[in-house]
Formats: sequence, C-alpha cells, structure tokens
Amino acid sequence: MRTVIYPGSFDPVHHGHLEVIERASRLCDEVVVAVASNSEKNALFTSAERVALLEETTTHISNCKITSFQGLLVDFFRQTEANAVVRGLRAVSDFEYEFQMALMNRSLNIDLETIFLVPSQERIFLSSRIIKEVARLEGDISELVPAVVKDAVWKKFH
Ligand code: PNS
Repeated sequence: MRTVIYPGSFDPVHHGHLEVIERASRLCDEVVVAVASNSEKNALFTSAERVALLEETTTHISNCKITSFQGLLVDFFRQTEANAVVRGLRAVSDFEYEFQMALMNRSLNIDLETIFLVPSQERIFLSSRIIKEVARLEGDISELVPAVVKDAVWKKFH
C-alpha cells in the first residue's frame, strides 16, 4: 500500500490543488490530503470549513482521504506511516520555499521524501491568496475554483 500525504493550507482549495490531487491519486494507492490547522489564525476559512470544501470537491477521486493535522508535518507523516509527501510546484518563485521545506522536513525525518508535481500551464498562476484578493474586490473567480468554493468565498466577503 503506497500512501502519499498532500499537505497544505487549502484556504480555499482551487483547481490547481485538485489537479495535484488527481495526478497524485494516479501514482499511489491512497492520497491523504492534510489541511494544516496551525495556519487557522490568518485564514479565511476554519480548518473544518477547508476540510469540508475539500471533501465536497474530491468526491470523484476514490482513493483520496481528507483530514487535518496540528503541529509538525513530520509528526503527522510518522503517525500516518506514509511513503512520501507531495507538493505542487508552480514556478521558480515557489522553488526556494519548497526546497527549504523539503530539506527541513528531511533533516527532521530522514525517511521523509518530498515529490513535486507540476500542474498544467493554465493552472500555474493559481494561488489561494490571489483568488481571495480577486473575490474580495468582486472579481470573477468562477474559472479558478469549483462552484461550491466560489459560493463559500463569496459568502465570506459579501
Ligand atoms: O499551502 P501552504 O500554506 O503552502 O502549505 C504549507 C504547509 C502547511 C505544508 C507547511 O507550512 C507545513 O507543513 N506546516 C506544518 C508545520 C510544519 O511542519 N512546519 C515546518 C515545515 S518545514
């Protein structure tokens, strides 16, 4: 049984995240999508809301499980007995942060392997931060997130 963890803030989930989950689901037996609830303080959605939106938008991926975790990713990785961590890599701007995180996680647990998956070109610019900014200023985000996420973001701002 090959299990990978896909950790993130997912505040909120967007089409770029969903593409990474779909790609990961084809490479392993189970993808555990793990919402980091440490980042609750500055988040638009609570950890429970982020989990619920992920659950609603991943029903078509049968080998994916949604959960949340507190504390260090390495500890969650150990508890889950996963084989690797998956992260999406969009552009050079992501690289430094992702590289730092991968090396830090490996220094905390030598067995933690990070696998980077690249989304398709049309999703490369997507980020939850930018999506929230556009929605807050009443821009159209319907091409960027599933409809249920669009409605939830809209309710938070308007
Ligand atoms: O979607 P994000 O915000 O880029 O995800 C970052 C996340 C949640 C994967 C990262 O901050 C994380 O792993 N947080 C858990 C706490 C932790 O282990 N921090 C040390 C990572 S080097």
